[in-house]
Amino acid sequence: MDDNSPTQKQRAGQYAANLGYFRRPHYLRRIRLWCFLAALALSMGAVVSYRHWKRDTIFSKGPLSHGHAPLAQDCRACHTDGQTDALKARLSESHDTRSLPGIVAAVFTAKNPGKGSPHAHMSGSSAMDQACLACHPTFGVHLPQTVGLHLVSVAAESVNVRADNCFVCHREHTSGDRMALPSASQCAACHDNLGELAYHRQSQPLSNPPIAATGENRNLGDGLVTFIPPSDAKRKPVAFSDFAHGHPPFAYENPKLSDPAKIKFNHARHLRPDLSGAGKEHALDCTDCHSPGPSGNFKQPVTYEQHCKQCHTLQILPDLPNLRIPHHDAEKVRWFLASIRIPIENALRAEGVTAPDDLAKRADAEMAALSLRSKSLKLPDLEQRVFFEGDPKTEPDIRRMRAGNAKFLTECAKCHEVAPPTIDRAPAVTPPNMAMRWLQKGSFTHQPHSHVACADCHAAKSSKLTSDILLPTQKSCAECHRAPDSGAVSVAQAGPTERTSAAFQREHGGAMWDCQACHVFHAPAVNTKSVRH
Ligand code: HEC
Ligand code: HEC
Ligand code: HEC
Ligand code: HEC
Ligand code: HEC
Ligand code: HEC
Ligand code: HEC
Ligand code: HEC
Ligand code: HEC
Ligand code: HEC
Repeated sequence: MDDNSPTQKQRAGQYAANLGYFRRPHYLRRIRLWCFLAALALSMGAVVSYRHWKRDTIFSKGPLSHGHAPLAQDCRACHTDGQTDALKARLSESHDTRSLPGIVAAVFTAKNPGKGSPHAHMSGSSAMDQACLACHPTFGVHLPQTVGLHLVSVAAESVNVRADNCFVCHREHTSGDRMALPSASQCAACHDNLGELAYHRQSQPLSNPPIAATGENRNLGDGLVTFIPPSDAKRKPVAFSDFAHGHPPFAYENPKLSDPAKIKFNHARHLRPDLSGAGKEHALDCTDCHSPGPSGNFKQPVTYEQHCKQCHTLQILPDLPNLRIPHHDAEKVRWFLASIRIPIENALRAEGVTAPDDLAKRADAEMAALSLRSKSLKLPDLEQRVFFEGDPKTEPDIRRMRAGNAKFLTECAKCHEVAPPTIDRAPAVTPPNMAMRWLQKGSFTHQPHSHVACADCHAAKSSKLTSDILLPTQKSCAECHRAPDSGAVSVAQAGPTERTSAAFQREHGGAMWDCQACHVFHAPAVNTKSVRH
């Protein structure tokens, strides 16, 4: 034993004064207590604050999309029954959870609607649909309603398809960005399945007077003259998978139809390189008459003033180029002709003939020149000339002039359908009523096709009659709008300029071909004016 080590007694003495040490405060014990109290307070706080502020995010499947971010604390805005459990949520969406097949269908088809399964999109507005619609009331219907809205005065039927089960197409909780949009396979799930189409399609016959079998041009109240093909209430939807495989032809392709515009115009003749009167070095070009509107999407309407006048004047006297028959209103033309001496005098004054004697003499001479056919000027003769005959083609002088600088009178009937006059009415000119739009159920815009020649889509160069429909077929669009050729050596080798050429796109495809490139899904909220010149 070591002599220096303390005895037991000595040790006891050492601690004698310190026996209550565990009762005395110590900083470590104090921390322990505070930790406990803090933990208690925090968990109480969590419970109370959750009750109070409902911090639902903790249960969430993923971030909400940008537009719905403010709803992060209000899951019940969409999960109306407070049901966020995956399986239960899906079941609560189903319309049939009583039967076993119903439950199986609900669980297995909602996420990935299979092509084969009947009613893969469980039908019927669900609780969540109702929630979505509460905030987005106008998104409850699919596009066919557009026709119901827009063509309601001319269609044979009104087709209605409900946009049920929003969440099949609009996936939530995927990112903080926008909601994910559906792919074309989501459209094909229904459109490539006759059973699905029939199940979702509700059709009601409308009692509109039938459209002419060859089609009509109508302004449906939006200021756009639209070509309307006759519709058929007994029509059945067609099943197809892809734009290039089975997509229906455009309505105007029906060979029974013709362009109903009432204006005489011969494209082939006016596009000939030797057309006289073009006034420039080159022949007329499409864009001389069809110039793009401000957005480039559609062409501006053809007008007499801008596109015909320079060659086909309504100038009635060779000496007075400023004296023109007014265009556009047959009654005004009749009044103009009945009192023609006044405009003649005005035209003379404009040329500087002001002395009363001179004026009278010149006006007499011009009046005599007007009565080309008869000795004395008679109004019916003048009308006959202006509306139906024009300047006589037999006069060699006039024939030369007509083809050259177009100084002579073109009769209205050269371009118009004109009915003979009556005693109290001027001859009736049928309004040309040229169509501005040809497609109703899908969209086309010229802008993205500026790299394609007009003639590739419009067979105008060989058309002699207005009644020809000069528009491209669905098949011609699908040459470019289809899945790209895969594996072809030439595609891989093509440079960027080659890829953007029309010929290359035609040969190899690859321009946007999914349904959404050309279609929207939802019907517009109101009968919006689709004025997109
Ligand atoms: C804007 C509407 C909306 C809001 C708000 C919303 N959800 Fe959802 N939630 C959906 C949709 C739609 C689905 C369906 C599945 C999908 O889109 O992937 C879904 C699915 C779910 C699922 C899984 C269900 C499944 O089938 O996998 C959970 C869990 C969930 N939500 C929880 C929440 C919670 C928690 C909140 C609140 C923080 C919330 N959700 C807020 C729309 C919403
Ligand atoms: C409480 C109201 C509310 C509910 C419920 C709601 N939304 Fe929204 N939603 C909004 C608001 C607000 C916006 C953002 C403003 C906007 O873009 O119009 C929005 C935007 C959207 C957008 C466009 C933005 C994007 O991310 O693409 C879609 C699509 C959409 N909601 C679909 C749905 C669907 C599907 C449901 C049901 C599952 C739903 N919403 C439920 C209020 C709501
Ligand atoms: C739930 C089934 C269903 C789904 C999903 C669906 N459609 Fe339809 N769609 C229909 C039915 C039914 C019609 C009416 C067919 C008819 O009358 O010939 C229709 C008609 C159309 C029409 C013709 C419009 C008209 O005015 O006549 C277009 C275009 C269209 N759908 C595009 C789409 C696109 C794009 C998608 C995907 C985003 C889609 N559809 C998804 C059922 C569906
Ligand atoms: C560049 C000059 C020029 C322009 C512009 C022009 N034409 Fe012509 N048009 C002619 C010539 C030349 C003829 C042949 C001679 C004739 O019949 O007068 C002709 C002939 C016609 C004919 C008779 C065709 C036939 O086959 O019998 C009609 C109808 C016609 N044009 C209508 C129009 C209309 C409508 C416009 C405006 C949209 C128009 N033209 C613009 C030069 C033109
Ligand atoms: C001198 C003016 C003029 C020129 C040049 C002209 N057009 Fe036209 N175009 C018209 C007139 C007038 C109409 C309306 C009468 C009709 O439908 O034929 C029309 C109608 C059209 C239509 C729609 C009507 C339908 O039936 O399809 C198309 C498409 C068209 N033109 C394309 C062309 C193309 C492509 C070219 C060039 C190759 C061209 N046009 C050159 C005056 C012209
Ligand atoms: C060279 C061809 C040509 C001749 C000649 C011609 N027009 Fe026209 N007319 C047109 C064209 C093209 C339009 C359609 C575009 C426009 O309104 O300018 C038209 C439109 C009209 C319209 C319809 C206006 C509307 O609001 O729809 C009337 C009415 C009319 N013309 C009357 C006449 C009368 C009357 C004459 C003879 C004095 C005449 N036109 C001579 C080419 C011609
Ligand atoms: C890729 C094919 C394509 C090309 C290229 C094309 N068009 Fe068109 N064009 C169409 C289709 C499709 C329509 C019918 C659109 C509608 O009315 O809904 C149309 C409509 C028209 C119309 C009548 C409707 C309107 O907008 O007034 C005219 C005129 C016309 N095109 C002229 C031209 C001219 C001129 C060019 C060349 C500069 C041209 N197009 C190039 C496909 C084409
Ligand atoms: C020569 C090839 C070619 C032909 C023929 C063609 N397109 Fe296109 N189309 C294109 C290209 C290229 C684009 C631009 C695609 C892109 O931006 O990726 C396009 C774009 C479009 C767009 C999308 C416009 C937008 O603003 O998003 C629509 C709709 C369209 N085309 C419809 C049609 C229709 C309808 C026809 C037939 C009348 C047609 N196209 C014929 C090559 C073509
Ligand atoms: C390149 C453009 C383009 C693509 C891609 C496209 N469509 Fe179309 N579709 C059109 C146009 C244009 C019309 C309008 C025809 C008309 O009004 O005459 C149309 C018409 C329709 C119609 C109405 C047919 C009828 O006769 O009633 C349906 C349904 C349709 N499309 C569905 C689809 C579906 C589903 C897809 C995807 C698989 C698709 N489309 C892809 C351009 C396209
Ligand atoms: C078959 C797929 C499909 C179904 C079902 C569907 N949508 Fe959509 N929705 C789309 C597509 C595709 C778009 C993109 C724009 C378009 O095509 O109209 C869209 C766009 C929207 C937008 C506008 C987004 C924007 O760009 O501002 C809202 C809001 C919306 N849908 C709500 C709903 C609601 C609510 C429902 C259920 C009642 C629903 N959707 C059902 C496919 C669908």
